[in-house]
Amino acid sequence: LTPERYPVQRLPFSTVSEEDLAAFERIIPGRVITDPEQLEACNVDWLRSVRGCSKVLLRPQTTEEVSQILRHCHKRNLAVNPQGGNTGMVGGSVPVFDEIILSTALMNQVISFHDVSGILVCQAGCVLEELSQYVQERDFIMPLDLGAKGSCHIGGNVATNAGGLRFLRYGSLRGTVLGLEVVLADGTILNCLTSLRKDNTGYDLKQLFIGSEGTLGIITAVSILCPPRPKAVNVAFLGCPGFAEVLQTFSTCKGMLGEILSAFEFMDAECMQLVGQHLHLTNPVQESPFYVLVETSGSSAGHDTEKLTSVLEQVLNSGLVSDGTIATDQRKVQMLWALRERITEALSRDGYVFKYDISLPVDRLYDLVIDLRTRVGPRAKHVVGYGHLGDGNLHLNVTAEAFSQELLGALEPYVYAWTAEQRGSVSAEHGLGFKKKNVLGYSKPPVAVKLMQQLKVLLDPKGILNPYKTLPAQA
Ligand code: FAD
Ligand code: MLT
Ligand code: ZN
Repeated sequence: LTPERYPVQRLPFSTVSEEDLAAFERIIPGRVITDPEQLEACNVDWLRSVRGCSKVLLRPQTTEEVSQILRHCHKRNLAVNPQGGNTGMVGGSVPVFDEIILSTALMNQVISFHDVSGILVCQAGCVLEELSQYVQERDFIMPLDLGAKGSCHIGGNVATNAGGLRFLRYGSLRGTVLGLEVVLADGTILNCLTSLRKDNTGYDLKQLFIGSEGTLGIITAVSILCPPRPKAVNVAFLGCPGFAEVLQTFSTCKGMLGEILSAFEFMDAECMQLVGQHLHLTNPVQESPFYVLVETSGSSAGHDTEKLTSVLEQVLNSGLVSDGTIATDQRKVQMLWALRERITEALSRDGYVFKYDISLPVDRLYDLVIDLRTRVGPRAKHVVGYGHLGDGNLHLNVTAEAFSQELLGALEPYVYAWTAEQRGSVSAEHGLGFKKKNVLGYSKPPVAVKLMQQLKVLLDPKGILNPYKTLPAQA
């Protein structure tokens, strides 16, 4: 949590005065928090890797309140850090210095749900898991799911353009988000909260805010398309003897499962060891160098189980898989998913985590993990690879007893240069936030970075929204 790890200077924003607090109190009476104990949790990120020192937490309930708050902050040149569930992985969700924290926690109302179209309109602070329950009761599901579902907010999901476990099937939020309401830096309300599948009336402004990590505006409401709830969900958990076999298993699944394939996730043996050691989860199959989780979602239980069973037979007979198990009942499905979803938690219990979230051509995906293991040697406790293989997204994590500048030096810029050489992305789904903002150039050309900076100036001329995040300090 040491700030010297990240050399950055406070920009000349104003500091919050007694008059500012009084103004906020008039806008959101009783919801201006200055108690240091209550502020502690929202100054530290989920990974406990960065810490800010904000002295004010604001908890608006309505868009109008957010607008009035920003109008005041803009006039007074006060910096603001938008915060959802604070589960972000790149240090974007907490202040760097004393930025005001604007939390969406109390903006948690469903505005409407249409049971024919499946279009949900809700406030930005709705917790993803609660939305999932809400739409499931109406025979729909959310188009995204992630391990942080119990805490993350839909606004935070949209602000980071979160990928997650259903991306393979339902695609990016760039496709499923139909409309947004956003409050701009000066307090202007931009109402693009439409619920239309098709709308080619000029530039698609909502796309600017999807994945903008709170630097261009505060998302206050979201309109999102929910797919129908699949009648049958099956999961297979398989052990593979090598990474080449993982890839061939993926090809086999795509070929044999077709439209019912809804997830293809992988993890290596060290991940399995960590979820066993720290969370006491049991490996349901024979020990293997790699494991894959295959999910099918379809409309016919018998048909889907039959299809998945013949995949299992095929991959076992051809030696692509050494052992496997299938779950059709919800309890076992959840138990198998936990092995993959809870890796993040197990890693955080192992020590300090150096986290990389990379897009790579799928056939080179694991080479980086092997390469890095040799490079860092005993300086690391674990070098692990897991992730959304079906999306070409590797989560490469390195754990150590404690943060070490020397280990960081061995990892960076090596990992980024390696990724750039493959024309990969240095942030597949977590964004850039505070920790990765200076590596944007590995994945984007200077002209693109400059255009991003110009857009930032256009939308937030005083730079009050989530300063020190996403964009590199210099082009
Ligand atoms: P926060 O962490 O509070 O904020 C994230 C960023 O968005 C910050 O920059 C913040 O300023 C900004 N922001 C938040 N709300 C708003 C708003 N209303 N308007 C404007 N800006 C806003 N991510 C994935 O992509 N895929 C995964 O599979 C995945 N799994 C995870 C599993 C675990 C266990 C954990 C802890 C995290 C995981 N994440 C994953 C990362 C994280 O959950 C996602 O990035 C999530 O979308 C963040 O939502 P949040 O509400 O917690 O946002
Ligand atoms: C995941 O897929 O588990 C998340 O993105 C979190 C992580 O990278 O650890
Ligand atoms: Zn992920």
